[in-house]
Amino acid sequence: KAPALKESFKDDFLIGTAINEYQILEKDPKSAKILSEQFNAVTPENAMKAEEIHPEWNVYHFDVTDKLISYAKRNKMKVTGHTLVWHSQLPAFVHRMKSADSVRMFFNSHIQTVASRYRGKIDSWDVVNEALNEDGSMRTSIFYEKLGEDYVTDAFRLAQKFTPEARLYYNDYNIEQPAKRAGAIRLIKKIQAAGVRIDGVGIQGHWNIDNLPLKNIEDAISEFSALGLEVAFTELDISVLPTPFKSNEADVGKKARYAATLNPYTAGLPDSVQKKLADSYEKVFRIFLKHRDKISRVTVWGVADGVSWLNNWPIPGRTNYPLLFDREFAPKPAFYRLINLK
Ligand code: XIL
Repeated sequence: KAPALKESFKDDFLIGTAINEYQILEKDPKSAKILSEQFNAVTPENAMKAEEIHPEWNVYHFDVTDKLISYAKRNKMKVTGHTLVWHSQLPAFVHRMKSADSVRMFFNSHIQTVASRYRGKIDSWDVVNEALNEDGSMRTSIFYEKLGEDYVTDAFRLAQKFTPEARLYYNDYNIEQPAKRAGAIRLIKKIQAAGVRIDGVGIQGHWNIDNLPLKNIEDAISEFSALGLEVAFTELDISVLPTPFKSNEADVGKKARYAATLNPYTAGLPDSVQKKLADSYEKVFRIFLKHRDKISRVTVWGVADGVSWLNNWPIPGRTNYPLLFDREFAPKPAFYRLINLK
């Protein structure tokens, strides 16, 4: 029997995954087994996003999150809250808001209510998610438009007030890339200059086997930790499919044109690609291990390939293989490669 991921890396960093309610119920015993055997940290994949947990002005749905957190506690897993402030997966009532005052009221009450309810139960919070554009400038969002750039600092100030024991993170994708990384550093310095606490940076790590940003990952770890922050890899998955789109591209016609060629491995992953995926996981984990004193956690974004969000992104109906367990919940070569690093 192979050793578990969480055992192999126990002296290095936490090993996490994303979870959903169905995976902790008896309905899905295979996921549950992998979860409890392999991981010592979890992030609710969707349950804590505003549209789920706060669907109407005065309605909060805490039940799913409560169940996920008590599951995690029973299994001695750390919990990451994801996320307090994000432009996406917002409830419709927020999108309908016209005035800065109402957005401010939502912002304050949402952070206060969710952060204080889970005070002492959440080990780290993704306080703000994806505030930046690829060039490092502020992303247009209802928060940026109505509250200005200071919403980022304000969110950390409120989180610190209402869940003071939690580690507070800024989380984003591609912030290992130089321009976006510079934008993140600018935001972090602003938070720090305001006398507000930020403990860490979450680099999502949605990467591709054809384009691993190895040098940038290393540079980013060094630069973020030089600011006094811990670094986590919060949503790691490595797509094996071609990605002809930038994430901000929404050209529907183009997507249809690519659809046919975007799904080359429906009959299963060829050995050569399986090996390339294992090589890719090995390469990024070698960097993580080299910098383990600066890294708090590495979380893969899903338990097994069949439930990965990358089967549906950027277009639905793709067959992707980005994780460590296959569609039958068996460990893949990439899994064994990681175990054998230790
Ligand atoms: C994704 C989930 O995995 C999907 O189930 C959901 O439909 C959309 O969101 N960046 C993030 C995550 O911060 O919350 C996203 O998760 C993936 C990209």
